[in-house]
Amino acid sequence: MIKKISIDQLLPGMYVADLNNQWVPSKNASRSGVVKTQAIIEKIRALGVTELFIDSDKGVDCTDGKSADSVKQLQASQFNSLSVQSGTLGAVQRSSRPTVTQERDRAEKRYSAAKDMIGSIIEDIKTGKGVNADAVDNTASDLIESLNANENALTCLSFIRTKDEYLLEHSVNVGLLLGIFAKARRMDDTIIHQLVAGGLLHDIGKILVPTEILNKPGKLEPEEWDEMKRHVTYGEQILDVTAGLSDITRSICSIHHERLDGSGYPRNLPAKKITIYGRMAAICDVFDAVTADRVYHIGMGPNDALKKLIEWSIFHLDKDLVYDFIRCLSVYPVGTLVELSGGRAAVIIEPNRRQPKLPVVRLFYSTKQQRLLTPEIIDLASKDCAYEIINTLDSRQLGIDIRPFL
Ligand SMILES: [Fe+2]
Repeated sequence: MIKKISIDQLLPGMYVADLNNQWVPSKNASRSGVVKTQAIIEKIRALGVTELFIDSDKGVDCTDGKSADSVKQLQASQFNSLSVQSGTLGAVQRSSRPTVTQERDRAEKRYSAAKDMIGSIIEDIKTGKGVNADAVDNTASDLIESLNANENALTCLSFIRTKDEYLLEHSVNVGLLLGIFAKARRMDDTIIHQLVAGGLLHDIGKILVPTEILNKPGKLEPEEWDEMKRHVTYGEQILDVTAGLSDITRSICSIHHERLDGSGYPRNLPAKKITIYGRMAAICDVFDAVTADRVYHIGMGPNDALKKLIEWSIFHLDKDLVYDFIRCLSVYPVGTLVELSGGRAAVIIEPNRRQPKLPVVRLFYSTKQQRLLTPEIIDLASKDCAYEIINTLDSRQLGIDIRPFL
């Protein structure tokens, strides 16, 4: 039986089924297998793991462990209540703004320009120049303008990832997510701007981590993992000598890897020292990281990633903010593949915060005939709509690439 236990309950002889820390590159530790020694347990603890899954059929049992089913039930019940709640967090009238399709062109230009801007900063730093704070400010303003029109156009683009551009896309995506999250929480415009800028720059220190460590497909040695973690300190050093950045923008780089139980890095900050901005950044960073394909893991669907955030909110992430984040993106976020009644499959292109089960989707697949259909945009909230969401689907299991339909 798969059971969830705390790190303090882990003993030599137990079989680890999952370290439950997908935001940590798995290449630095194998995720499953029998734990042979106490030293290995200490290494797992050093990774920031506070809870994990064991398989009691393959190793020593833990009678106090919760069965994985009950963890799934917790996720399902939280999700159910969030999906029927009339979400009012930053809900906007759809009729009062451009559609995703209308905003698409502008969003594409802004997304691509934001990636180029991060690329230029990387080049500048490599050649000894500083960060161009004006360029960061202008990019943040451009992205916010498109988010204000219809944030779903940029969100769709954030799921169309290009191989080998992880750092650029992750930087832009975390900026976007922070902007969407802060807007939904009705934060002040100046703060929203500073948070988006912080998201754009949060991982900038990674350019000083040797490429062979950053892109190593195999297991990282402990000293390599230490070097990887130093990207936060490198980022702080770069931003400290950059004029024109706000304290909030700089702090996103400093605290996005800190965790509420003190297991984060680089300072192992306790919860009381982690600001709301740091807590929001951690959620956005983890969400984008686990939904991306990397050399060491296959990205999970956005709906599954939100369920994982619920689990991680037990120790690592701020629970109230995680639930707000889910209300903000909706339980069926952009990029989720869903099964509709009548044997159809569709991808969410515009969530519905007020009625989460009634988003706008692009229907493109027949699950009965297992073939692609002519894509069609359908608003499940419209009165004459005959479809309803039955389930979420795994695009990889169906062998479907959803990117062309975003
Ligand atoms: Fe990071």
